[in-house]
Amino acid sequence: MSLSINLLSYEHGILRQVIDVLKEVGEKQTVDKHRHYVMEIVQFLDVYLDQFHHAKEEQFLFPPVIGASALLSVEIPKLIRDHQHAKDLLNVMKIEIKRKPAEAFCKASLELVEHMTSHIDKEELLIFPKIEGYLTPEVNKRINREYSDFNRHFGPDFYRTSEHFAKKIQNDILGPGAFRTTG
Ligand SMILES: [Fe+2]
Ligand SMILES: [Fe+2]
Repeated sequence: MSLSINLLSYEHGILRQVIDVLKEVGEKQTVDKHRHYVMEIVQFLDVYLDQFHHAKEEQFLFPPVIGASALLSVEIPKLIRDHQHAKDLLNVMKIEIKRKPAEAFCKASLELVEHMTSHIDKEELLIFPKIEGYLTPEVNKRINREYSDFNRHFGPDFYRTSEHFAKKIQNDILGPGAFRTTG
């Protein structure tokens, strides 16, 4: 796989870890018990999922390949609509986390978990392998340069702190030994 795709897959790994925790909290309805962590998760997803990961796909990976095949020209706009749906759910979660009981928050969280799990699976299993076939070395190189410039807005330690956050909430909420390997 090209580096420009590998990096997004690595980002998916961190997202999956955080989503696992959100799933647990939503299913077991333990928002009140973990309210501080849950607020941090919402804040994390707002930045990492919406402003960082989805923005990179939309701004740098998708544009050079959207017209490359009939499948991609249909599926990429659907993925972008998925991103908007995730953002809408996150906006509901940002409001509902302030309310008690947390029923509406759990409902939106579990919808986000399901939505993002199938979105990530679709990218990993169907879309990224297709995109790979259309990425020339020059385009791949350009995308990686664009990622690096973009990543700077999030600070030099963004990946390290994101990984750390994912591991910490897994450890604190799911319990020691619950770490998933990324990717
Ligand atoms: Fe995506
Ligand atoms: Fe993605």
